[in-house]
Amino acid sequence: MGKLLRTDGLFLVFLTFLEIVQLCFCMNSTLGCIEGERQSLLKLKQSFQDNSSRLSSWTGKDCCKWEGVSCGETGHVVKLDLSTSNGSLITDKSGYSYKSYDFYNSSKQVSAPEVDPCLLEFKHLVYLDLSGNDFQGSRIPKFLGSLKHLRYLDLSNAGFSGMIPHQLGNLTSLRYLDLSFQGQVLSSSGGLYADNFQWVSRLSSLQHLDISYANLEEALDVMQVLNTLPSLLHINLNSCGIRHRHFPRGSFNTTFLARINFLSLADNMLSGPIPSALQNMTALRELDLSANSFNSTVPLGLVNSKNLVRLSLSGSSFNYIEGGLLSILNKVCSLKSLDLSFNYFQGDGVLGSNYRNSSRCLAYDLAFLDLRDNEIGGRIPYWFGQLKGLKYLYIDSNSFSGPIPSSLKLLLMLREFDLSNNQLNGTIPQSLGKLTSLEELNLSGNQLNGIIPQSLGRVSTLKELDISNNQLGGFIPESLGQLVNLEWLYISNNL
Ligand SMILES: *[C@@H]1O[C@H](CO)[C@@H](O)[C@H](O)[C@H]1NC(C)=O
Ligand SMILES: *[C@@H]1O[C@H](CO)[C@@H](O)[C@H](O)[C@H]1NC(C)=O
Ligand SMILES: *[C@@H]1O[C@H](CO)[C@@H](O)[C@H](O)[C@H]1NC(C)=O
Ligand SMILES: *[C@@H]1O[C@H](CO)[C@@H](O)[C@H](O)[C@H]1NC(C)=O
Ligand SMILES: *[C@@H]1O[C@H](CO)[C@@H](O)[C@H](O)[C@H]1NC(C)=O
Ligand SMILES: *[C@@H]1O[C@H](CO)[C@@H](O)[C@H](O)[C@H]1NC(C)=O
Ligand SMILES: *[C@@H]1O[C@H](CO)[C@@H](O)[C@H](O)[C@H]1NC(C)=O
Ligand SMILES: *[C@@H]1O[C@H](CO)[C@@H](O)[C@H](O)[C@H]1NC(C)=O
Ligand SMILES: *[C@@H]1O[C@H](CO)[C@@H](O)[C@H](O)[C@H]1NC(C)=O
Ligand SMILES: *[C@@H]1O[C@H](CO)[C@@H](O)[C@H](O)[C@H]1NC(C)=O
Ligand SMILES: *[C@@H]1O[C@H](CO)[C@@H](O)[C@H](O)[C@H]1NC(C)=O
Repeated sequence: MGKLLRTDGLFLVFLTFLEIVQLCFCMNSTLGCIEGERQSLLKLKQSFQDNSSRLSSWTGKDCCKWEGVSCGETGHVVKLDLSTSNGSLITDKSGYSYKSYDFYNSSKQVSAPEVDPCLLEFKHLVYLDLSGNDFQGSRIPKFLGSLKHLRYLDLSNAGFSGMIPHQLGNLTSLRYLDLSFQGQVLSSSGGLYADNFQWVSRLSSLQHLDISYANLEEALDVMQVLNTLPSLLHINLNSCGIRHRHFPRGSFNTTFLARINFLSLADNMLSGPIPSALQNMTALRELDLSANSFNSTVPLGLVNSKNLVRLSLSGSSFNYIEGGLLSILNKVCSLKSLDLSFNYFQGDGVLGSNYRNSSRCLAYDLAFLDLRDNEIGGRIPYWFGQLKGLKYLYIDSNSFSGPIPSSLKLLLMLREFDLSNNQLNGTIPQSLGKLTSLEELNLSGNQLNGIIPQSLGRVSTLKELDISNNQLGGFIPESLGQLVNLEWLYISNNL
């Protein structure tokens, strides 16, 4: 679970909670399993097609010892974990943690045409995880709303479809709710939807909500309701059909704006100026607005949280940054990951002017900067060399021209550097040989001339070197033979 801790403060809270719950689970009940509940578990097992026999331990007297079953002190079943996931999220280079396609192990799946009502017997259930199984396009059962002690409910990627039952609003102890899916859902099921969000307003303990890929186009009150939840920290509404009109006109609750630490609205239908609520959030650690179609400016108000670690605005048709990239980097010192790729940023104004060599912050922790696939022009600014924490720098497929600045030799942590498909000219600086962490360097598709510098042979970490499609000449330096880790070398289409 170490990976979870890295990116998301909420998980800290969440883990502490799990640990508390776990403590009670660990206590061996002296009473053993309650016979009625044992019968219900057997009934549940019978309702499943279990191809991999993962419930083979579900035999014998003490059901508290069966796999995925945990009992509390009184012997009642308090936790049912039938998830097919192994629990470890993938964290990508940008620091984004997610459930990868193979997060759920489909060969562990049990399937059933619906959730058997015998689940209702488990009145003491605190934790229910059915994620990754296959309920064949059936509805989420209304009766789950009576399991009133539930604090944790994960029905993600479990093949449910249809309207999310309002009865879930009765789960007033719920802290964690995941109804998302990652796209493995059966084609026969249309996925989940909600017509309104009023039912959510009673979930006053809710901290973590992920309802990604549910269709919320009709639920225009989503934001209005979330705004009223007093415990909410984490909101994931990717691909929900959210538009501007889902944001209420009036102002948001100030405690909401000062509390939410994770907000993802990726792949929705937001357009026009960024809603003002999103510009007033002061506790955000991660904000993802990628894959929308804003066609507007990125306002500086968007980075109003001193805790912001990851900001993704990729592929959202942004065309300008208020004050330029420099303003963001000077405002949010904590930023580790900034993705501005695949937008309509043009010229050099978007980078910002008047870099001052002063004590202002210039995001000293920035490890990931992606500007690829825009139309950013002018020279590569020498101040990129001041972003000394950079590990991943992508500026490919833009219109950068002129020389590669030698200040980049200061980027000693750099692992991947892509400058391909620009109009860079001049020689490849000798000083790139100082980048002794570099694993991938792509200079292809520019107008670089002169010789291949000997010094590149010193970058023993290099795995991929692409200098194809330039105007380089001379010999291939012998020193490249020292690159013992090199897997790919592309030098075609030069002079
Ligand atoms: C629970 O009981 C089993 C044997 O019945 C024992 O191996 C295990 O250590 C006990 N666990 C705790 C936390 O007491
Ligand atoms: C289980 O096996 C049956 C019969 O072989 C097959 O039709 C079904 O798709 C399998 N289910 C899963 C979840 O793999
Ligand atoms: C869980 O599965 C993922 C994807 O298959 C894998 O990368 C990861 O190493 C696994 N983790 C554990 C703890 O087994
Ligand atoms: C998936 O589950 C099957 C059956 O339990 C197991 O044999 C296999 O090792 C699991 N795969 C992964 C990647 O964990
Ligand atoms: C559960 O929710 C439904 C619909 O929201 C409501 O009609 C019902 O009275 C609730 N039941 C309980 C026990 O609160
Ligand atoms: C804001 O929300 C909190 C609970 O999160 C509530 O106590 C407070 O009354 C709300 N304030 C306003 C002005 O609605
Ligand atoms: C955001 O803050 C500004 C200035 O404090 C305020 O005028 C505006 O109403 C706020 N917007 C929302 C949606 O809370
Ligand atoms: C983007 O906005 C400009 C005006 O600001 C407008 O001319 C253009 O059509 C818009 N593009 C899209 C795709 O909406
Ligand atoms: C910025 O300041 C550092 C030392 O504080 C100095 O080494 C460097 O040359 C300065 N850069 C510019 C562009 O003024
Ligand atoms: C380098 O960049 C070019 C153009 O962006 C791309 O086609 C090529 O695959 C890249 N080379 C490597 C080794 O990734
Ligand atoms: C690089 O290109 C610019 C025009 O974009 C030109 O002014 C300059 O002389 C070129 N430099 C070299 C070294 O070719």
